[in-house]
Amino acid sequence: MFENNLPSWRQDLKSSRNKEGKSPSNRWVQLATISERNKPRLRTVVFRGWNKDSSMIIFTDRRSEKIEHLKSNPNAEILWFFFKTNSQFRFKGKIIELTDNKDYWDTLSEKSKSTWFWGSPGKKINPNLQSAYKTLPNLPKSENFVVLNFEIDSVDLLKLEQPIHKRYIWEKKKKWKKTEINP
Ligand SMILES: Cc1cc2nc3c(=O)[nH]c(=O)nc-3n(C[C@H](O)[C@H](O)[C@H](O)COP(=O)(O)O)c2cc1C
Repeated sequence: MFENNLPSWRQDLKSSRNKEGKSPSNRWVQLATISERNKPRLRTVVFRGWNKDSSMIIFTDRRSEKIEHLKSNPNAEILWFFFKTNSQFRFKGKIIELTDNKDYWDTLSEKSKSTWFWGSPGKKINPNLQSAYKTLPNLPKSENFVVLNFEIDSVDLLKLEQPIHKRYIWEKKKKWKKTEINP
């Protein structure tokens, strides 16, 4: 059930990540939220690491639409697909904001920090905005910088293998016991 105190799906994920190699795309995941009008919304985000054993960290902009979605409905799903192992991981859980986020801000490059001072994502371009599209030095932490904590409560792994595909699920409420199910 647990190996080195980590949920056992962490080992399966690690093995897929290792085989995928060091490309930046190895950290791109698809995050689904539910809009205020109950519609599914999907976008790519960067996986920024783990918080405790089973929470993923994501950085975003407070002005982006996903923040409104999460205020009305914290339920979310993350999909992570690995080409080399033909493995699809689906993570279900809830997202909360981590307000103590200064250390995360400090990990960012100047170029990356600057993007939180650019125009609002999804709004019409303002050609007069001075800070837009420039890399600015020594920036303080932006009010728009948001660290999301995606707390996973279940994992569904599908591996396309020959002669038969494999599928497993894990649930936190079942102490992350690994169960094989029909693919
Ligand atoms: C490769 C890639 C990585 C991205 N990483 C992030 C990210 O880490 N955080 C983020 O908020 N948006 C990221 N985006 C932009 C989102 O996909 C999305 O366009 C943006 O967050 C606005 O989404 P929303 O309007 O649904 O909130 C990334 C886009 C791409 C193509």
